[in-house]
Amino acid sequence: MKILITGATSGIGKQLALDYIAEGHSVIGCGRNQEALEELAALGVQSLGFDAGDRDQVLASLGSLDDLDLVILNAGTCEYVNQPRQFDGQLLERVMQTNVIGVGYCLEALLPRMDTGSRVALMGSIANELPLPRAEAYGASKAAIEYLAKTLAIDLRPHGIGVSLIRPGFVRTPLTDKNDFAMPMRVEVSEASRIIRQELARGVEEIHFPKGFTRLLKLLGGLPDKAWQQIALKGLKR
Ligand SMILES: NC(=O)c1ccc[n+]([C@@H]2O[C@H](COP(=O)([O-])OP(=O)(O)OC[C@H]3O[C@@H](n4cnc5c(N)ncnc54)[C@H](OP(=O)(O)O)[C@@H]3O)[C@@H](O)[C@H]2O)c1
Repeated sequence: MKILITGATSGIGKQLALDYIAEGHSVIGCGRNQEALEELAALGVQSLGFDAGDRDQVLASLGSLDDLDLVILNAGTCEYVNQPRQFDGQLLERVMQTNVIGVGYCLEALLPRMDTGSRVALMGSIANELPLPRAEAYGASKAAIEYLAKTLAIDLRPHGIGVSLIRPGFVRTPLTDKNDFAMPMRVEVSEASRIIRQELARGVEEIHFPKGFTRLLKLLGGLPDKAWQQIALKGLKR
């Protein structure tokens, strides 16, 4: 397969890129970190450097690629809201620009030349199953990705292009290494890559893992808002 992965310079995207290369696929890996891109190139990944939140850069970098069998739009960032009363609109803008708008630019560049039988996967998160304290920006961005993926799954079906939404729980990467709170059932990045590759190969539309954690969050997500608020507020007091 010819596979394109954004956010391939670190964490989940890097592991996916290296595992697909090891399986014998042709991989285009994207990111901004030049040193990490050179490291990927030395390992056989064709590397492309651009800022996913910059439309001109995205269109110039991706606008002429064709014959892609699988596109994994994984680049993302996370910033938490620490001062809700001094709400930082620019923090929300930064997170949305990379996690949502950047995905839109990549879709704009790539979809016109994707063929019947190909697949696009968007990197969401199980985080937006519930309103989690301090996750106003990150959760909102992943809620937008969920809607985008599920709508595209309908609209691209007649064109023969499959769409998958990937919704991990916690995965050990530089992004979660920064977190200062407990991360139940955090999985290693190799395990995340194994599950994602296996389920994408089966054409699963909503890939979520680890199941023990993601099913619990989905169950809690079904509670009335007031009941969940009580649980969340008790957690904040601890
Ligand atoms: N780790 C988890 O527990 C977890 C759980 C659920 C969902 N996710 C999602 O999984 C994805 C990958 O996360 P990760 O944990 O692997 O994080 P990570 O190790 O921090 O990697 C993030 C990747 O995104 C790229 N990126 C960030 N901003 C970019 C921009 N403006 N333009 C281009 N590339 C950009 C980074 O590349 P450069 O630094 O080279 O720009 C890097 O390759 C994210 O969408 C995240 O929300 C992660």
